[in-house]
Amino acid sequence: MKVEDDTLNFTRMFRKGKGLGRIDHYGRIIVSGMGGSGISGDIASAMCNSLQVPSVDPETDNHPVIAWKNYGLPSWANSKDCVICISYSGNTAETLSAASKAIELGCKLEVITTGGKLEKLASKNNCSITKVEKGHQPRAALPLLLTPLLYKLGIPNLDAQIEEVRKLPIMKERAQEIAEELKGRLPCIYANGVMMPVAYRWRCQIEENAKQMALHHEIPEMNHNEIVGLENRAPNSITVVLIRDNQENEITRKRFTATRRAVLRLRMKSYSDLKIVDVSAEGESPLARMMSCVLLGDLVSLKLAEMNKVDPGPVEVIEDLKTELSRLDGK
Ligand code: F6R
Repeated sequence: MKVEDDTLNFTRMFRKGKGLGRIDHYGRIIVSGMGGSGISGDIASAMCNSLQVPSVDPETDNHPVIAWKNYGLPSWANSKDCVICISYSGNTAETLSAASKAIELGCKLEVITTGGKLEKLASKNNCSITKVEKGHQPRAALPLLLTPLLYKLGIPNLDAQIEEVRKLPIMKERAQEIAEELKGRLPCIYANGVMMPVAYRWRCQIEENAKQMALHHEIPEMNHNEIVGLENRAPNSITVVLIRDNQENEITRKRFTATRRAVLRLRMKSYSDLKIVDVSAEGESPLARMMSCVLLGDLVSLKLAEMNKVDPGPVEVIEDLKTELSRLDGK
């Protein structure tokens, strides 16, 4: 399936998870996954841990969800933790290593995958396996990977949130306008709280689909470092993208206003070629708010791919790197 077709089908790929229930675990949950699969862990973690979103289950205490993107597991992991490994191909080295570590430590392990070595490992160890449809690019399969994860985590009102996502508009014209502001420039994407994984998704989709560099950072943290980097005329022309939640609190609203004004003053001062693009979430529920901006960013990255005259689908350098690593591992 082409990335372009999947993107136009994005909202419909969210389906209510018949038969998918909450996992029987009330402690820490570590979500392991890389790249296009790993972003589901970031989104789930933001939804469960963010100040703006009610916690997974207010009845139970202490239910942190941590996204993990490396080999093995964090040094503090132990047998009381639950590990959910997500890999679209089922063959990603870091995720396989996390699954093996989980088994070694005696953690509860569940996997979400199309198959591969991860399915084999999970099946050999009698772990729960959620199979996902094959034939997509992992990053374009986000709805297919994210939905079972959110059901497993027991996100409140998930059926209603998915219903809302399915009704989101596909803003092709807005995407075209934004892509024109980003063409041939360095997008510096800033967000806060629950919108942080969205900013990261924008960056990764621009990089993978449009084959163009992008940066992202968090407000307020960027107010303490990266904003100084905008002070001098940069080698690249920069477009600052501000991704805003439509339900942001007062403190965050003031932060964005102050940051926007500071960026405009820097532009005046250094005569730099600096543009600002504002993006705001649509919808009510946390999932719809996040997915409205994810979809817009995905569309922007495809428009940019068109402008950059590149095929958004293949990511040869990632594949070559994986092959090279297996060779080094003697596999
Ligand atoms: C490819 C993509 C990559 C992969 C990553 C991990 O579309 O987005 O970032 O997702 O290399 O591979 P999987 O998802 O198979 O575990």
